[in-house]
Amino acid sequence: MIVILDFGSQYTQLIARRVREAHVYCEIHPFNLDPAKLRALEPAGVILSGGPSSVYDKDAPHPHAEALTLDVPYLGICYGMGLLARSAGGVMARSSHREYGGAELVPVHDTGSGRGLFDGFAAGEGTRVWMSHGDRLEALPDGWTTLAHTENSPYAAIRSSDGRRVGLQFHPEVVHSERGREILENFLHRVCEVKSDWTMQGFVDSAVERIRAQVGDGQIICGLSGGVDSSVTAALIEKAVPGQLTCVFVDNGLLRKNESEEICDKLGNYFGADFVHVDAADRFLDALAGVTDPEQKRKIIGRTFIDVFDEASNSAHLERTPARFLAQGTLYPDVIESVSVKGPSATIKSHHNVGGLPERMNLELVEPLRELFKDEVRAAGEVLGLPHDLLWRHPFPGPGLAVRTLGSVNREDLDILREADAVFIEEIRRAGLYDEIWQAFAVLLPVRTVGVQGDFRTYDRVVALRAITSEDGMTADWYRFPHDVLQRSASRIANEVEGVNRVVYDISSKPPATVEWE
Ligand code: XMP
Repeated sequence: MIVILDFGSQYTQLIARRVREAHVYCEIHPFNLDPAKLRALEPAGVILSGGPSSVYDKDAPHPHAEALTLDVPYLGICYGMGLLARSAGGVMARSSHREYGGAELVPVHDTGSGRGLFDGFAAGEGTRVWMSHGDRLEALPDGWTTLAHTENSPYAAIRSSDGRRVGLQFHPEVVHSERGREILENFLHRVCEVKSDWTMQGFVDSAVERIRAQVGDGQIICGLSGGVDSSVTAALIEKAVPGQLTCVFVDNGLLRKNESEEICDKLGNYFGADFVHVDAADRFLDALAGVTDPEQKRKIIGRTFIDVFDEASNSAHLERTPARFLAQGTLYPDVIESVSVKGPSATIKSHHNVGGLPERMNLELVEPLRELFKDEVRAAGEVLGLPHDLLWRHPFPGPGLAVRTLGSVNREDLDILREADAVFIEEIRRAGLYDEIWQAFAVLLPVRTVGVQGDFRTYDRVVALRAITSEDGMTADWYRFPHDVLQRSASRIANEVEGVNRVVYDISSKPPATVEWE
């Protein structure tokens, strides 16, 4: 594996993604990882990320000196290059301003071993790279050479005399660095000499072994939401220890049109007797009656879920020995966030709706997807034979339609919203745009506006349509629909959904807006 030491760069996750995309396993660890632990990981190479600091800042992150002395190749990116160069005797200088944006990188003729970072590049032939740095290298360490320069950086890429330490002033991991992927792959394959042998089938096989070792003959329960993460988690466990898993699907009455039936159909089929469906719609809707504050709604839904799930798991219905384990679909970005240099980022909304479940039920966690990114989870799902539609569906929030019918939640409004949402998604699918859009949905607004339908004046509800493009939901842009798709959606909703006479399209990006309206 490759170890990435994180110095707080906003791009650290991207480095990991690029390495994984090259089918090489990697893990991100904090910059101050204990050198003994680093050694125990037996990395084939170490990447030092960039970071927002100057090495001269008072509280700049410094790794343990010993962490830079393993007998493996090192790649330093930006701030990481400064650390590598300094540790070998190079001289850094604090720049008066940050260099930020695109630059033309020109590789120079490398007379070295030939097994290097710029194999496949022609000397003198420029390529665009993305710069974002403050400190600058003033003098190379003894014996080091320059591999490439830009107009402002004479040392844009450097290497030690044996070629096992390399540094890049720019960010090869971002898409704006045209041939960044090739440079990273050269580091992996030519400098570290690792093979691209990390595959999803390999991941599934080793995850199965790990689950067996962790749970022995213990029983496991898993909450299935119909989403990708919980479904793949459950499918992996089912494969590892068939007969020891119980999947509980709680229908909270806040799902989209026909969603509950589809989940029961698809997942019920897949998990057979190990699938339990709990219809708790009345309980959730009663608990939500009259509540208008979005955070309050989330809390009520989270609490009710825990109660219902706990009861369902303990009920005689399960007729099994009580569970010792709770399976959760925690993904790598959550794990990274919890070990991040910057600490968990400020939560704008309380998204972790079911926190507290393992403590309340006194269960040990099984989290087989902890090392995976979302697209890798989908690939694992394909290997496990889960239905394609399920793996590629848009994200859907835990509190469901409760945060899309603004203000207090009631059955009539939920029905209106379900119909409008179904029309919108149908039109998106019909236009072949579903996979291009990251998330799309309808929102029912708590206002009435005047309209005219036939010879009558109406005073009816407004539906807002939202569709976004995004990488991870953290930032988003509104989706540029062909006008006819919007037109068809709007006119069908106003004509077919009783109680709606007006449709608007949301063209806010995130930030400053969020994806959901509540
Ligand atoms: P926001 O609205 O915060 O949404 O920009 C970002 C992503 O998170 C989803 N979302 C939630 N997911 N529980 C969830 O499980 C929640 O309370 C919640 N609120 C928002 C949202 O759908 C989008 O994908």
